[in-house]
Amino acid sequence: MKAFYITGIGGPEVMTYGDLPEPKPGRGDVLVDVKASSINPVDWKLRSGMMRFLTGRGLPKPLGADFSGVVRTTGPGASGFAPGDRVFGVVLTMLGKPGAHAERVVARAKDTHKLPDGWTFEQGAALPVAALTALAGLRKCGDLAGKTVLVNGATGGVGHLALQIAKAKGARVIAVCSARNAALAQSLGADEVLDYGKVDVTAPGRTWDVFFDAFGQVGFSRAAPALAANGVYATTLPGPDAMLRSALGGIFGGKQVVLANMRDKREDYAELERLIQGGVKVVVETFPLERAAEAFAECEGGKVRGKVVLTVP
Ligand SMILES: NC(=O)c1ccc[n+]([C@@H]2O[C@H](COP(=O)([O-])OP(=O)(O)OC[C@H]3O[C@@H](n4cnc5c(N)ncnc54)[C@H](OP(=O)(O)O)[C@@H]3O)[C@@H](O)[C@H]2O)c1
Repeated sequence: MKAFYITGIGGPEVMTYGDLPEPKPGRGDVLVDVKASSINPVDWKLRSGMMRFLTGRGLPKPLGADFSGVVRTTGPGASGFAPGDRVFGVVLTMLGKPGAHAERVVARAKDTHKLPDGWTFEQGAALPVAALTALAGLRKCGDLAGKTVLVNGATGGVGHLALQIAKAKGARVIAVCSARNAALAQSLGADEVLDYGKVDVTAPGRTWDVFFDAFGQVGFSRAAPALAANGVYATTLPGPDAMLRSALGGIFGGKQVVLANMRDKREDYAELERLIQGGVKVVVETFPLERAAEAFAECEGGKVRGKVVLTVP
């Protein structure tokens, strides 16, 4: 099969488009003809060695967690799916498992979902990791109705969905992005847009009930002066400090830290489907799989708007 795969740990030069052996489904697996996959920052973190202990040894292998496609066959004990079913979901590409930037992917049946009626394969591949991260993180921030939610990195994969989900939950949303993405943030429903090149949103003065850091790199210590008295700082990149504060926060009260980590239970997918039905949109740019190198260059160069999706003809 054709795939965009890594041959080692390193920069873009270790990624190649070419042929790999056909994968075989094991117990509890489904084999999917991939129609689309999407790029997440974890792809190049696994490739570059930033998360080396999770990359695994089974190289060469394609990366790519989010997938959509059509079930080709099922392995023993994989119930609930039949050949021809339109599906989507997440494969954990860590610890040696091959990912979805390929013509075929093996996914666990329990992590595979029927593609809702009316959804395109591009939507199905773009949504899971980014949307389920935004959803899980915002849910932990409590009732958002009437609250002021600042979304930092509001036009990236996680951020553009967090912006819309916070709006759908009744928040007043302040979107923080670069000037070139201000119009996009506005079109997604932001009540106010701030350019991170001009405004320091961590400076004391204005305060936010929720600081949702989709960019992930601000940190609680910097964000704290701009949080309301019982404000919440949520981050998609929790380090040891955030983990400790999140664990201790409940004990001491006051300003809290929330870990915005993806959660992918069946009820999360059901809530995501309701949000999409309610008007939340995923912004997608597509590249054919054979041009994945260009797509990765765009993502790694920090030029992303919404999600970048690779399509298999
Ligand atoms: N914990 C989890 O489960 C989980 C899940 C998914 C992602 N993540 C992590 O979350 C982070 C974001 O993921 P993503 O998929 O949303 O990435 P992305 O699509 O690359 O988006 C990153 C966003 O950050 C913005 N940005 C860049 N510099 C900024 C700055 N100085 N201040 C504010 N915003 C800035 C960019 O905006 P401009 O383009 O306007 O510059 C862009 O919209 C990554 O580190 C990823 O690994 C964690």
